[in-house]
Amino acid sequence: MVNKMDVGISKIRNKSHYSVVALFLISLAVTAALLLITGENGSIPREGESPKAGPPPPSLAGEIKYEEGGDYNETASSCDLFSGKWIYDETGNASYSDGRCSFMMGDYACEKFGRKDLRYRNWRWQPHRCNLPRFNGMALLEKIRGKRLVFVGDSLNRNQWTSMLCLIESSLNQSSLQSVVRRDNLFIVEAIEYNTTIEFYWSPLLVESNCDHPFAHKVSDRVIRIESIEKHARHWNHADILVFDSYMWWIMPSMTILWGSFESSDAIYKKVHMHLRLYEMALNTWSDWLELNTNRNKTKLFFMSLSPTHTFGERWDVQQHCYNETEPIMKEGYWGVMADRRMMHIVESTIEKLEKRGVRVQYLNITHLSDFRKDAHPSIYKQFYGSLSETQLADPKTYSDCLHWCLPGVPDVWNQILYSYIINS
Ligand SMILES: *[C@@H]1O[C@H](CO)[C@@H](O)[C@H](O)[C@H]1NC(C)=O
Ligand SMILES: *[C@@H]1O[C@H](CO)[C@@H](O)[C@H](O)[C@H]1NC(C)=O
Ligand SMILES: *[C@@H]1O[C@H](CO)[C@@H](O)[C@H](O)[C@H]1NC(C)=O
Ligand SMILES: *[C@@H]1O[C@H](CO)[C@@H](O)[C@H](O)[C@H]1NC(C)=O
Ligand SMILES: *[C@@H]1O[C@H](CO)[C@@H](O)[C@H](O)[C@H]1NC(C)=O
Ligand SMILES: *[C@@H]1O[C@H](CO)[C@@H](O)[C@H](O)[C@H]1NC(C)=O
Repeated sequence: MVNKMDVGISKIRNKSHYSVVALFLISLAVTAALLLITGENGSIPREGESPKAGPPPPSLAGEIKYEEGGDYNETASSCDLFSGKWIYDETGNASYSDGRCSFMMGDYACEKFGRKDLRYRNWRWQPHRCNLPRFNGMALLEKIRGKRLVFVGDSLNRNQWTSMLCLIESSLNQSSLQSVVRRDNLFIVEAIEYNTTIEFYWSPLLVESNCDHPFAHKVSDRVIRIESIEKHARHWNHADILVFDSYMWWIMPSMTILWGSFESSDAIYKKVHMHLRLYEMALNTWSDWLELNTNRNKTKLFFMSLSPTHTFGERWDVQQHCYNETEPIMKEGYWGVMADRRMMHIVESTIEKLEKRGVRVQYLNITHLSDFRKDAHPSIYKQFYGSLSETQLADPKTYSDCLHWCLPGVPDVWNQILYSYIINS
């Protein structure tokens, strides 16, 4: 795997533009990276928009503070939280800026695993026309008292869930977030005094697949039941707030579609190379299910736009890799090659169609703002579960994690945005 990744990286460096071949190589590299870094074991370590640009709900007005010197012709309710810039803030008063959090996982604990440069923590996202509201964990818990908030998706979503728990924990005096209960794919944390649960459900492709085991999901040939979601969905059907994501696991040169069940002998298997088409089909299964099964009066639905990676192929410098990067990209309007607009369009049009069918999913368009943050990935500063070979150790780029995000870090901003949507709804 590592060799394939090497090949992918070196070939791509010599190319001036991207092609089908590049996609194939990207897929290999991403697969290698995924296989390398998703091999967790055991339980959680207890160590320590609507389709149009996601304007916040109208009631956000009270929270809006205008940035000095801005051009504020727009009304408060049209403030676009996704359009802005990163500002270095020496005070860096992110709520758990010391990195202390009882829900931290080795995957994101960059400081603990040796990262010395901690500047990445001090950047704050400044929307152009307003400020993000301050995250207040107590206010959030009060708002969702008696309710279930469930994150559904892949490890990027788990990254966000972990950030949410850390943000909430840090704004309470003593930890009121108590137990972590695990039921198969579902990880549950309870805020007991609030009768509230904040949960994560592992289903990286949303629909059923052979990657559904919460830990043992290292498979090289992905087999997908593209029309089946019930097995997962029944576990989160009754949630009050659902936050979905799904992206990385679709980037494969080929995958196998299964009609019939995994157990049946006359099931039909078909190898397919068009990952975009598959992505669309799966999202259709997802939206059909939502249309038929969600309680529209009760359940609030969110979809996180794709989280960009900084694995390679970027144009920001010679090394073209997140390893050793300590500063964000400051070029306005920057758009990296790993933020696949075609996949974003598929999500966006799925959500648009769903809205016409009476189901509103709010699209949190965090891709662009995250894409600037090549400095904020764990790279080599995280827990690795398998042992690393000498060849790997000699070239850290071969095993750096440029997909997930250090905590505290970028997912905290995603949650600040999610917070503003929830608190104002
Ligand atoms: C999401 O954000 C990107 C970049 O800011 C923008 O180009 C795209 O149109 C947005 N998508 C939607 C549906 O607003
Ligand atoms: C930190 O707190 C100060 C004073 O309350 C405030 O001016 C500043 O914007 C805060 N910084 C961040 C990153 O929230
Ligand atoms: C907790 O919330 C559930 C709804 O999620 C409700 O049925 C139950 O009565 C609540 N329990 C308490 C003690 O408030
Ligand atoms: C924490 O405790 C202090 C003093 O006991 C109290 O004034 C404050 O409101 C509490 N804050 C929270 C977030 O519970
Ligand atoms: C949702 O609300 C509408 C209007 O308030 C009502 O007519 C409908 O019966 C409700 N549906 C459910 C499933 O509660
Ligand atoms: C990492 O960055 C430091 C400081 O810029 C530099 O001295 C070092 O050579 C870099 N290491 C690699 C492997 O690129």
